[in-house]
Amino acid sequence: MGLVPSKWVLMLLVCWLCKNVNSSSVAQKIYVVVKNTVPCVRLLNATHQIGCQSSISGDTGVIHVLESEADLEWPLSKGPNPPYMVLLESSLFTRSIMMKIKNASSRVAGVAVVIPTMSPPEFSPHTTCPNENTGVYSDSYGPDYAHCNTTVWNPRGNGLSYEEFDFPVFSLKEDNETETIKQCYVDHNLVENGTTPQYPLCALQLFSHMSAVTDTATCMRRNDVINFSINPEMVCDPLGDFNVWGTIRPYNKSELGHRDNDSVVIAAARLDSRAFFWDVATGAEGSVSGFITLLAAAQALRDVTRESPPTHNILYAFFQGEAFDYIGSSRMVYDMEKGKFVIDLNNVHSLIEVGQVGLRNGSELFLHTDPVSRMNDSINDQVKKLVTNLQSSNAGMNVSLVEPGVSQPLPPSSLQRFLLAQNIPGVVLGDHRSAFNNKYYGSYYDNAANLNLHYPDNLTTEEQLEFVTETAMALSDVATVVARALYKQAGGNESQVNNINADPKTVTQMLFGFLVHANNSWFQARIPPDMKLEASPPNFYVGIASPLLAHAKTLTKIVQYLLANLTGTATNLTQDQCKKPDDLPDESEQMHSYFWIRGTFPTNGTANNTLCVRASVRMSQALSPAFDLREFASKTYSTWTESRWKFIEARMFLVASRDLEMLTLGVGVAVLFTSLLVTYFISIKADVLFSSVREPASAAY
Ligand SMILES: *[C@@H]1O[C@H](CO)[C@@H](O)[C@H](O)[C@H]1NC(C)=O
Ligand SMILES: *[C@@H]1O[C@H](CO)[C@@H](O)[C@H](O)[C@H]1NC(C)=O
Ligand SMILES: *[C@@H]1O[C@H](CO)[C@@H](O)[C@H](O)[C@H]1NC(C)=O
Ligand SMILES: *[C@@H]1O[C@H](CO)[C@@H](O)[C@H](O)[C@H]1NC(C)=O
Ligand SMILES: *[C@@H]1O[C@H](CO)[C@@H](O)[C@H](O)[C@H]1NC(C)=O
Ligand SMILES: *[C@@H]1O[C@H](CO)[C@@H](O)[C@H](O)[C@H]1NC(C)=O
Ligand SMILES: *[C@@H]1O[C@H](CO)[C@@H](O)[C@H](O)[C@H]1NC(C)=O
Ligand SMILES: *[C@@H]1O[C@H](CO)[C@@H](O)[C@H](O)[C@H]1NC(C)=O
Ligand SMILES: *[C@@H]1O[C@H](CO)[C@@H](O)[C@H](O)[C@H]1NC(C)=O
Ligand SMILES: *[C@@H]1O[C@H](CO)[C@@H](O)[C@H](O)[C@H]1NC(C)=O
Ligand SMILES: *[C@@H]1O[C@H](CO)[C@@H](O)[C@H](O)[C@H]1NC(C)=O
Ligand SMILES: *[C@@H]1O[C@H](CO)[C@@H](O)[C@H](O)[C@H]1NC(C)=O
Repeated sequence: MGLVPSKWVLMLLVCWLCKNVNSSSVAQKIYVVVKNTVPCVRLLNATHQIGCQSSISGDTGVIHVLESEADLEWPLSKGPNPPYMVLLESSLFTRSIMMKIKNASSRVAGVAVVIPTMSPPEFSPHTTCPNENTGVYSDSYGPDYAHCNTTVWNPRGNGLSYEEFDFPVFSLKEDNETETIKQCYVDHNLVENGTTPQYPLCALQLFSHMSAVTDTATCMRRNDVINFSINPEMVCDPLGDFNVWGTIRPYNKSELGHRDNDSVVIAAARLDSRAFFWDVATGAEGSVSGFITLLAAAQALRDVTRESPPTHNILYAFFQGEAFDYIGSSRMVYDMEKGKFVIDLNNVHSLIEVGQVGLRNGSELFLHTDPVSRMNDSINDQVKKLVTNLQSSNAGMNVSLVEPGVSQPLPPSSLQRFLLAQNIPGVVLGDHRSAFNNKYYGSYYDNAANLNLHYPDNLTTEEQLEFVTETAMALSDVATVVARALYKQAGGNESQVNNINADPKTVTQMLFGFLVHANNSWFQARIPPDMKLEASPPNFYVGIASPLLAHAKTLTKIVQYLLANLTGTATNLTQDQCKKPDDLPDESEQMHSYFWIRGTFPTNGTANNTLCVRASVRMSQALSPAFDLREFASKTYSTWTESRWKFIEARMFLVASRDLEMLTLGVGVAVLFTSLLVTYFISIKADVLFSSVREPASAAY
């Protein structure tokens, strides 16, 4: 008897459900996982957390395409359907807009930034004073120069990369996926003639929940606790990778610390850079211009340093992680101080650093020096000599070397970390007299276009690789000057100097490989046969540190193999010998590294041209000493860590209104209770309902 009304209720419910299932099947059709996205992730240092994150189950908001700053009114106050997911073109990705959104984050679920192929006039999400807390200038060393008081190096910097956002921020490519999202917005969410848009609305959901919170000390502590728990799960990892270094005369790698009667000229450049979004840094001017120039200089010095070796050794150093408070250089200096490197600081004769050199105005190249250490007369004399060596090395080159002419500190540079430890004569080369010429410092737009890298339209990829661009000519002039000055500085034979010339062809191939296509025949011929390259530039974000050499970043490995190829010797060793050269009488892994490379692509048949290269090129750890010392609140050393995460995704779908959703939920709950009731009723009356089934069984006996 009681069954009759519940049957009615059930049928009613089924009808309600049908209706709702219909609308959600529309949503199913529009459900799109957006693939070409990069999130902004959380990074932590000694005192702060920066970057972005979503809640653990992702943040969903109704899409609003922002047209202008004034248009923020809709998502931030007027719009009736918060939270909103703000989609903006990168021209609107400004500090002012992002801070307004941050201030009203209860009404904003997240932000998606469309990165266009064309660069804006200028954009730098970095700070105005990069690495200001970990350079040499401080209250105790040139206080007037500390915190960019005298020269603001990156005046365009808006600091967004160092802000914290408690909502997800993703980047989107300007492609058909983004078109689909915008179309969905136009079809469903557009406010026309002041009428409010009707449900269902088009929504975007972003997942980027981050495991680490607060600061590095906190997350490292949690990492430790996790060691003892059953389910080991780290929450953050230190940033870092490996430095690449090589010398013109080999060092026995087992003999560390001070070397008597040894004096070394260091030539340095940085490898990495960063941008707002996780791993899309490009660094064309920021780092590539400098390290390519140094690689080309190393090649130019190969033959002359063998035929008439200079008195001092030359050490080429390529530092990783410099963008994050000088991880690489601070580690090498630390190792030198602790006797854990092949030389120590007293062996350092002088240092030439190649900074941002790709955007010269005319022929001018500036020689930046440190006014504080130059107050010491003997250092000042050595710096003057270094400057003279550089200024007299430009015969036949379109480069004029000038000192900035004002009392000005060093720009952000690895040299600062050496000066922090010891007074060393040094010069930083840069294309800027004071503020950077780079309009895109620390951003995604510091790319090939920023270096004016253009190829004629009708060239194939292979032809582009060989095409000597004007950028390559200009950089190879700088490389020639650097090589000659290094040779003089190391006490080389003056009569040889003008025979030293960098090869513009090599420079153009490197520019193509690091800024256009890593996967090209020139790179491939110089890397291990099993190494894979992408048809895009390598990634210039330092990423998280691995203790294993084998896990070095692709960029680091490419630079290591190129340095080996450009400074080393091709041998006739077989693959097995290359792996175990110590078995041979004249080879030693203590003195050299041995690299098995693919060789030039065979033009005929299946024969391959693999070969073994011997070079005094090595990698050394670029992990901040703060992590070895377990000083996670260190003020001297980089403390940057990257949070871990489980899941990163962006998806788009239609949402029904809140009311409708609540109704669906209500109906669902009603169905649950009804079925529970029905089950209860059936089990109570089971003997009545199923009596006819039992009877035959009981009749069996
Ligand atoms: C943040 O929002 C509050 C009101 O919620 C407003 O008074 C304040 O001026 C805003 N701050 C900024 C920086 O926009
Ligand atoms: C900047 O330097 C000038 C002197 O060069 C000094 O008077 C001023 O106090 C400094 N400002 C800061 C913020 O340190
Ligand atoms: C950590 O990073 C924040 C944001 O850039 C900065 O303000 C702070 O000074 C840094 N802390 C240290 C110890 O460098
Ligand atoms: C976008 O275009 C690519 C090819 O260019 C295609 O494979 C993909 O399916 C398209 N995606 C959408 C959502 O239309
Ligand atoms: C909005 O107004 C314009 C003219 O003012 C009209 O052409 C258009 O159809 C209107 N759109 C809607 C959705 O009412
Ligand atoms: C946690 O484990 C890692 C690797 O197993 C080890 O290197 C580290 O020292 C451990 N930490 C502590 C505090 O035991
Ligand atoms: C390198 O140094 C180690 C330790 O001093 C020594 O045993 C080894 O023979 C040296 N190797 C060469 C090739 O000189
Ligand atoms: C490309 O076009 C230029 C003229 O625009 C011509 O001089 C050159 O030979 C062409 N190169 C090839 C490979 O077709
Ligand atoms: C490799 O070259 C050296 C001379 O450079 C020669 O003595 C040696 O026999 C060669 N080895 C092989 C395997 O060809
Ligand atoms: C450099 O690489 C090229 C291409 O693989 C090879 O032909 C050449 O012998 C190598 N030279 C050295 C010194 O490694
Ligand atoms: C390919 O050319 C090389 C010389 O360039 C030659 O030594 C080799 O025998 C040739 N291989 C075949 C399969 O023709
Ligand atoms: C290439 O040739 C060398 C001998 O010249 C051989 O040891 C190696 O296995 C070959 N590699 C491939 C990938 O065929």
